[in-house]
Amino acid sequence: MIILERDGIFILETENTHYVMGVNCQGELNHLHWGKKCNIDDYFVNYKPWERSSNHSARDFAKTEYLPYGGAVYRPVALTCTYPDKCREVMLTYKDFNITEDDGAFVLEIILEDKPYKLEVSLFYKLQENTDIIERWSAIRNCSDSLVTLGKIASGEFNFPSKRPYTSTNFNGTWLAEFRKEETVVKNGVLTYESRKGGSDHTVSPFFVLSQNADEQQGDVFFGALAWSGNFKVEVSRDCVGVTRAVIGINDFDFSYNLHAGEEFTAPSVYCGYVQGFGKMSNLMNDYAVEYILPKSFAKEPLPVLYNSWEATWFDVSCEGQQKLAEIAADLGVELFVMDDGWFGSRKDDHAGLGDWYVNKEKFPEGLKPLIDKVTSLGMKFGLWFEPEMVNPDSDLYRAHPEWAYHYDTRTSTRLRDQLVLNLTREDVQQHVFSCMDDMLNEYDISYIKWDMNRCYSETGAENLENPQELWYRHTKAVYEIADRLKAKHPGLQIECCASGGGRADLGALSHFDMVWTSDDTDPIDRLEIQEGFSLIYPTKSMRAWVTDTNRGSRPNDWDFRFNVTMQGSLSIGGNLLKYDERELEIHKKYIALYKEIRETVQFGALHRLANFAQDSIYANEYVYGNQCVLFLCTDVTTFFNDKFYRITLAGLEEDALYKFEYEGEEKVLSGAYLMNVGLDYEMGSSLQSKIIVFEKVQ
Ligand code: GLA
Repeated sequence: MIILERDGIFILETENTHYVMGVNCQGELNHLHWGKKCNIDDYFVNYKPWERSSNHSARDFAKTEYLPYGGAVYRPVALTCTYPDKCREVMLTYKDFNITEDDGAFVLEIILEDKPYKLEVSLFYKLQENTDIIERWSAIRNCSDSLVTLGKIASGEFNFPSKRPYTSTNFNGTWLAEFRKEETVVKNGVLTYESRKGGSDHTVSPFFVLSQNADEQQGDVFFGALAWSGNFKVEVSRDCVGVTRAVIGINDFDFSYNLHAGEEFTAPSVYCGYVQGFGKMSNLMNDYAVEYILPKSFAKEPLPVLYNSWEATWFDVSCEGQQKLAEIAADLGVELFVMDDGWFGSRKDDHAGLGDWYVNKEKFPEGLKPLIDKVTSLGMKFGLWFEPEMVNPDSDLYRAHPEWAYHYDTRTSTRLRDQLVLNLTREDVQQHVFSCMDDMLNEYDISYIKWDMNRCYSETGAENLENPQELWYRHTKAVYEIADRLKAKHPGLQIECCASGGGRADLGALSHFDMVWTSDDTDPIDRLEIQEGFSLIYPTKSMRAWVTDTNRGSRPNDWDFRFNVTMQGSLSIGGNLLKYDERELEIHKKYIALYKEIRETVQFGALHRLANFAQDSIYANEYVYGNQCVLFLCTDVTTFFNDKFYRITLAGLEEDALYKFEYEGEEKVLSGAYLMNVGLDYEMGSSLQSKIIVFEKVQ
């Protein structure tokens, strides 16, 4: 890992790649290369400042590192602003650079400036040892003595080498159907993925993944994932001369930011890389997130098996009911008991109570202590649900402070799920939200918070701000700050980020929360697709997954199948344990015990997606970590054709090592070479079959 500067050319050398930029004859920073390594002395800047016609400019065609709007530029840009004299164009030229060391990593800062206006832009590139991931971000500094209004502030602009069209992968999801992969070939124009909803949303995700002829093992894959959970925008474009670019950052929709004299705005980071194959991308990002992104306190610890009462009791929680569930959960091997919605204020359903974060005395006459004492005496930790950013109009909080919800006096506030969004850009609201949760954490032995967010924003009046259009940014920042403060004040606290399922599951959330809830859809068949999408770029351990009673009539599936799917993330239990018979409870015990034996492999291991479901009618996911390898096989076959035999060749093992495992009821020991080159035949019988095979390296 090195960073080199030679005559205005900057070379970032990661484990296997080069990322190269250079200052052109106009003093602008051009992008030169991203891909395989070359001889570092060969790089040169080839910029021709000629105009092609009266309709195209050289700047518009150039590969730029961070193109602002200014001059004859007509494509998506990284930066826009309005200066005090009403000039709305920015011209950036190279000023300086710095290379610093930060805790073992090297950071390159390239400083660009718009001289007449004393505006500076710093582009940062951070390189860690032994990885091909580069962390990129930008910071804008107002060195003048007047106010500058920023419009668009991307975290980065990216250029891709091939003139042929790239395939862009993102999601096309919704509530109960998040992370469903969608591929689009970008031949021309601009493909935009964005959220305008306040959170990063269920539909698309804040990243770009651009590939050519790629599968799990091979083919060029370029990617960049934004660590931001608010409104974002990813613009992938291909121009008329075949150059593909991506601009990624917080969304400029209804956004602007007042940058006062002497102030700096730092845009969120993008984690980017170039690899061969989607599998490599997933694993690089998984390892990197565990090492550098997830909150340090629990990043490297396996997450506990939790029980969540939501699907068992819905809003109908009571001390006795939860205690009964807790007794069974503990007996099954659950380590953390989480009580979901319904415990506070006058919450009977979703029409009332949000904002009143004190215990409902009808449901818990003696407070939560008897329940928490029970849970902890059973050897489990206790967790509690909050939806801190929200308020029901039918709540004490709203009656006391109607002005705390975003609103316009002249408009009727839209109620989604009968709730409104609190104006978290107000310091008094931030302090109130923090105190409510802090008070509960001070009073009770709570080790875990599920932080939910169940509606998107509307009527976002924020007249408390000098510039109300900053609210989209400031709200998300406030969420992060409150979560960080709670964690700092209560060491040992884990926080799960939820937003009606996976509406805020991104690397921004995962920089502050320990895990995310991926979807309210707990049907295991749907979940296979949801989980596969999530695993594309997000870390396995951060994905909470529940085994529940969901068992849809037309395609019933057994407990083995449900556990098989759910054990591929952070295993959780979410069904109504009170209804289970002895056999069902035994199955739960068996799988929870098995999960504890393999969870380090699943949560930290390298994932190999051995099959392509569309072609092979089987999900075959293998996780390898240390001396263990775990293979999960699942079919979703709905026909009775005679093709239920699968040959599975493993990956990522040591060729010369021997692995012990069970095959057709017998113990077998075979070499890694055999397992990876010859493979094993599995007959999966009729539809919705599943198997879990554990391979232990014996020498
Ligand atoms: C959201 C969450 C669920 C549950 C409910 C409670 O829908 O995604 O898991 O917590 O809210 O109201």
